[in-house]
This record gives sequence, structure tokens and C-alpha cells, in this order.
Amino acid sequence: VRVFVSRDSAARSVGADEVAERILAAANGRADGAPAVEIVRNGSRGMLWLEPLVEVETAEGRIGYGPVAPEDVDGLVAGGMLAGARNLGACLGDVEQLPWMRKQQRLTFARVGVIDPLSVDDYTSYGGLRGLRQALAMTPAEVVETVVESGLRGRGGAGFPTGIKWRTVLGAQSELKFVCCNADEGDSGTFADRMLIEGDPFTLIEGMTIAAYAVGASEGYVYLRSEYPDAVATLRAAIELARTEGWLGADVLGSGFEFDLHVRVGAGAYICGEETSMLESLEGKRGMVRAKPPIPALEGLFGLPTVVNNVLSLATVPTILADGAATYAAYGVGRSLGTSVFQLGGNVARGGIVETAFGITLGELVNEFGGGTSSGRPIRAVQVGGPLGAYLPVEQFDLPMDYEAFAAAGAMVGHGGIVVFDETVDMAAMARFAFEFCAAESCGKCTPCRVGAVRGVETIDRIVAGDNREKNLVVLGDLCDLMTDGSLCAMGGLTPLPVRSAVRHFGKDFGE
Ligand code: NAI
Ligand code: SF4
Repeated sequence: VRVFVSRDSAARSVGADEVAERILAAANGRADGAPAVEIVRNGSRGMLWLEPLVEVETAEGRIGYGPVAPEDVDGLVAGGMLAGARNLGACLGDVEQLPWMRKQQRLTFARVGVIDPLSVDDYTSYGGLRGLRQALAMTPAEVVETVVESGLRGRGGAGFPTGIKWRTVLGAQSELKFVCCNADEGDSGTFADRMLIEGDPFTLIEGMTIAAYAVGASEGYVYLRSEYPDAVATLRAAIELARTEGWLGADVLGSGFEFDLHVRVGAGAYICGEETSMLESLEGKRGMVRAKPPIPALEGLFGLPTVVNNVLSLATVPTILADGAATYAAYGVGRSLGTSVFQLGGNVARGGIVETAFGITLGELVNEFGGGTSSGRPIRAVQVGGPLGAYLPVEQFDLPMDYEAFAAAGAMVGHGGIVVFDETVDMAAMARFAFEFCAAESCGKCTPCRVGAVRGVETIDRIVAGDNREKNLVVLGDLCDLMTDGSLCAMGGLTPLPVRSAVRHFGKDFGE
């Protein structure tokens, strides 16, 4: 009997390794003749409040138990868990039938939590490589146009159409081109890149290989943050396996196309998630933002044409190639097509990964999937899109997850992280934190950001202290205008978003 216990670092952080060991020990201690137990360390399904989640494979599907503490294991095994007994308190029933799972549309995350991330057999038997094989049978330009038609937009946050970016790189003349994956997932409340890499790394490798074929690149780099040691180890192991299998290297799947992939580990600077800083860092320099233009598509890594895409953008490409652009574009609303991998975190009862079509409302995500706050107190605010995203009050929970609808509301979808706060939050402190964060993480290249962030902290302190409040609110508005208009990159340019939204929606906290 196969028993699944996640190897995702979120599951490991709450004891999954010990749970797996105890299951094996308890299984070995059973009477002679009991079926042998094989522990599979899968990725996480993304139901983080249920980790460590144990799933037992049965004829009726995978029966889940969770959360399982190490000390619960002996009792559960004695009660029949390894035979899929449903009369145990921790039993959740068939995991795939849980409302949280059934209401999702998992395309990018289709295999995450299902397969052993480093099993070549699992990968190919669950649809892996279909996209790459399809791509290799097309011309590069046809692959690019398929991605354009799918409507896929950059999942790192800016939402730029991925296919159009690729078209620019394909059209650039150069002997050498690169594909760089931005896995420097620095936004607070985001963890989807990590979970994809830990739970289904071959999908990222496949997506990067398709991107390389489409634009004519022969080398790829994944820039992965040092805070993700499990993801680094898993991805490195997956790349080795992919080379052995002939999925990477001089003759990808026997097609004659050459592509190889390398992992580079960052050193903890938020700004290295900005694409040009990331390229500087990959070149071995200090992570400082470059002025754009030139765009990386034309002059990127070592000055050569480079695709820079987020993990989720690249990991979505295989499903688009495998099932066609129209199938993908059938999901979503307006110009936000396909599915997005939303991440629920902060003060939320049921945190984790929700992959659904764009168009689901913020309220559905936070209340129906998230189940409200974990403190049990009413929600006061959510921040969407990382530390540079806007704070939204409950009154805006009807907002659909859609790039344009969010922009019109003075907010952004970003990388899809949603952080929940209850009524005890002090929004002036959160606005102050936005400036503090910017001051700490600014690369220092341009004045509006480098100096503005520090002046912003001081100005909020004066407003909260009641020192010339009205005048300082005007100063704050002017400062935000200046940072928005004058900053070289999104770090300084978007810091006003959380600040302004906090003042607009939660004026009471600013002494109104
Ligand atoms: P941007 O709008 O300048 O560019 C978006 C992408 O499109 C870039 O890759 C750019 O090179 C490319 N591009 C623009 N015009 C192009 C053209 N004509 N042809 C080909 N490619 C073109 O936005 P930026 O500064 O790259 O990203 C800002 C976003 O980053 C924010 O909206 C925020 O959501 C997000 N962000 C994400 C974080 C994370 O951890 N995932 C952290 C911080 C910010
Ligand atoms: Fe550097 Fe900030 Fe200017 Fe961006 S906005 S280039 S982080 S100083």
C-alpha cells in the first residue's frame, strides 16, 4: 500500500518527516501478513492547515488524514489508517473530493501534491512531456503564437503577455540567447513558486525548455532565493535526472535541439527579484537595477537577448502546448485569461494554494476558501500582491481577480498573494512599514526611492503624532506622487500603493 506524506517544506516545518518515519515504524510493527507499506514523499496539495497530511491509496481514491501529529501516528495505524479506515477522527475522506480541491481548476498545479516530484515515471504517466513533444513538432514561431493566443500573462506580477515577450526574443538576432527563470519569490505572503518547484520541478524544466526552443535559446538559468533550500535541492536533483533522461542536453528528446539549465542561488535581497537586478546578480555583480530600455528581451543576460519569466508563467506553458491555446484561454475573464495560482496567508483559517480561473472574487477566495480569520475576529483588511500591493477593505470583496479590475480599483493582483488582517490591525503602522521596507530593500540607485522611503517613515510618524496633520497628509500625497512618477523601478514606484490605499480606506488610523 502506498502512503503519501508531503516533502514540501511547509509540511516538513510542522513535522511531516517525523510523521513519515513513525508510519514506517508502526507499519513494520504490524502482524505478519499485513500489506507492505511504501511511503511516497509527494509535494503538498496546498491545504496547509491540514499538514502534515497523510494520504493512503485505496481502490476508492486517496483517503486523507490530517493534520496528523507524530504522536497520533501509532493510534491511527492501530485504528486501520493504512487500510484507509474512514471511522477515524482525523479522516477527511477522498482528498480529491474535498470542497477546497473540487472548486479549483488546477492546470499549472495539476501534479503538485499528486506525484513524487522526482519520479520520472510519475511525471510522464501524469501527462508530463506532452507539451514539450508537441512544441518540438512545431516551428519556434508556431510555439510563440500558441502562447500569444493562450492569453498567458506574466505571473510574476506585471502581467505582461508572455507570448509577446517571447516574440521579441525570437525576432532578436544573436548567436546566443538565454532563458532566465525568476524564482526570487520575495513578496510577503507568496509561496506558489516554491511549492511548484518543490512539488513538480520537471514542469518548470519542461516549460523553460519549451521557451528556449520557441525563442532559439540554448542556455537557461533559474535564479532561486537562498531562503528556499529545499527547492534548491529538489530542482538540482530534477535537472540531473532530466539530463540523464535526455530531456535536457545536446539532443533534447532526440530532436537535435540543444538546451541546458543551471541553478543560481540569490543572497537574500528583495530587489534581486526585479528582473534587471536579477540579471546583474546572475552576472556576478551587486544586484542594482538597470535602466529600461533596453529591455532584457533585447539586451538581457550578458547583454544578449533573454527571456525573463516567473516560475508560474513558465510552468504554465507545458499545459498550454499540451492541450492547446484555446483550452487555456477558455478560462478567465476579459484580458485575464487562464487560471491563476492564488496564495492565502496571514491571519486566515485555511491558508494555502487556490488555483482557479481569473474572475473569482476576492471575497470568495478569502471567505469561502480561506474561511475567514484564524483568530476568529472579523477581517479588517487584506493586502493583495505582496508588500507593494494595495490594502483593501471588506467593502471591496466583490472585486474580481482580474488585472484590469484591480488596476481600476487602485490595486494590483501581482503574484497572487493575499494576506489577511483582522480588526486589530493598525493600518498606519502598515503604511509606515511599507516605507520602512522600501528603505531597507531599495537598491539606492534613484533618489525618489532611496530618500523618499526614509522621508515617508518620518511623515507618517508626524501624522500619527498629530503634528501638523493636514499639512503632512499633503506632504505624504506629494511624496507618493513623486515616488510613483520618478522611481526607476517598481520598488519605489509601487510603495505608494499600500500607503495610499491605507490612508484612503482606513483614515481613522491616521487620526481622521
Ligand atoms: P514592467 O511592466 O516594467 O515589465 C513587465 C515585463 O514585461 C518585464 O519582463 C519587461 O521586460 C517586459 N516587457 C515590457 N515591454 C516589453 C516589450 N515591448 N517586449 C518584450 N518585453 C517587454 O514590470 P516589472 O518592473 O518587471 O515588474 C513589476 C511587477 O513586479 C509589479 O507589478 C509587481 O507585481 C511585481 N513584483 C513581484 C514580486 C514577486 O515576488 N513575484 C516582488 C515585487 C514585485
Ligand atoms: Fe533602486 Fe528604488 Fe530606484 Fe528601484 S526605485 S532603482 S530599488 S532606488
